[in-house]
Order: sequence, then structure tokens, then C-alpha cells
Amino acid sequence: MTFFEKVYNTGIVPVVVLNNADDAVPLAKALLKGGIDFMEITFRTECAAESIAVIAKEVPEMTVGAGTVISVEQAALAVKNGAKFIVSPGLDDGVVIWAKGNNIPVIPGCVTPSEIIKAISLGLNVVKFFPADVFGGIKAIKALSAPFGQVKFLPTGGVSEANLKDFISNKSVAAIGGSWVCKKDDIANHDWDKITALSAEAVKIIKETRS
Ligand code: 3PG
Repeated sequence: MTFFEKVYNTGIVPVVVLNNADDAVPLAKALLKGGIDFMEITFRTECAAESIAVIAKEVPEMTVGAGTVISVEQAALAVKNGAKFIVSPGLDDGVVIWAKGNNIPVIPGCVTPSEIIKAISLGLNVVKFFPADVFGGIKAIKALSAPFGQVKFLPTGGVSEANLKDFISNKSVAAIGGSWVCKKDDIANHDWDKITALSAEAVKIIKETRS
């Protein structure tokens, strides 16, 4: 199975902000217990690289990637620490070319037709659609899939269990991304059971919607 087939199968890539690398392994295990085997650790905090490293080493069943990657330096640091994929809020040619050159799946953020054309020209057919709610949500994705039928989207930003179905029922949506299954407060409170429950609920909705 290819990387993107696996992403489609899971249907959700949680967006994770960690303030303490000690939370990385219990969080990865909580997500796995809820049926989610992908996670994106964002380079918004100091401990991102260390968190990726510890998950890559101690929770091999989890496919851990790096998010909020906005430079080649960050992409290289993430991959050196065990990141299996790169997600970016926007499209930077350098990051995409570096990732492709190193055989690392990369999902850059694209919301306009021109950005999507650029992504296609760089050899990609899966892009992040961020911030999804601000840029027109599923309505925009439907409109963009008319000219870009070969492109699959990862809508992120304002996606939650409330609107998950709308996104996942669309054939152009590869998977959805979001932070609601592992909110900052739940991580800070070590509420791993809640994170597992929210993950399981999301996975259930995704499976039901697709069947
Ligand atoms: C992201 O970087 O993808 C978003 O911050 C996640 O958006 P959400 O917090 O609305 O899920």
C-alpha cells in the first residue's frame, strides 16, 4: 500500500501541538488505541523534533510526520528525527523539491487554483486545504475538483466531528486534518482516555460515512 493509500484508509491526520516531549508517547498510544495511526507533530513548539524522535523510536505502529514545516531546514531536521511525512500550511518549492528528492511524502497547503497548478507541476496530487473553514470549506473543494479532478485534498482548520461527514463524503477528500481529537488542554491534563474516545468517534464517523 502506498503512503497516500494508507492516509486515505485512516481518513484522519491529527494536528498535534506539544509543549512537552514527555507527552509524545502517551499521546501516540492514545490515538492508536482510538484507531488513528497517523499524526502530525507541528513545528510550532521547541520540542517538535524530540517528540517526533521519541514516537518514531518507541511507537513504531504510529506513522509520525512533521507539520507546520515552512523551511527546508525544518523538513531536514524533522526527517533526521524520524518524520515519515511533511505537512506545510503553504506551498514552498524548496520544501517540496527537498522532500521529493529524499522520497518523503509532502503535503503542502494550497487554496487557490494557481497554488494547485504549482503543486501539480512539482509532481504532487495531494494537497492540504488550509484554513479550510475560512477558504470556503467543502463548497470550495467541490468547485476546485472540477478543474482539478486528479487532485485530492486534506482539509484542515475548523474541521471537527460536527462537519467531518461533509468533508469525508466527498471523493476529492483524501483525509481530514484537525486538532480537536487531541486538544491542547486534554494533552496538558493527560486526559488520554478522552483523546482515545474522540479518536474512536472520528474513526467511526469516517467509516460509516464511506460505507
Ligand atoms: C492546522 O495547522 O492544520 C490547524 O491549526 C488545525 O486546525 P484546527 O485547530 O482548527 O483543527
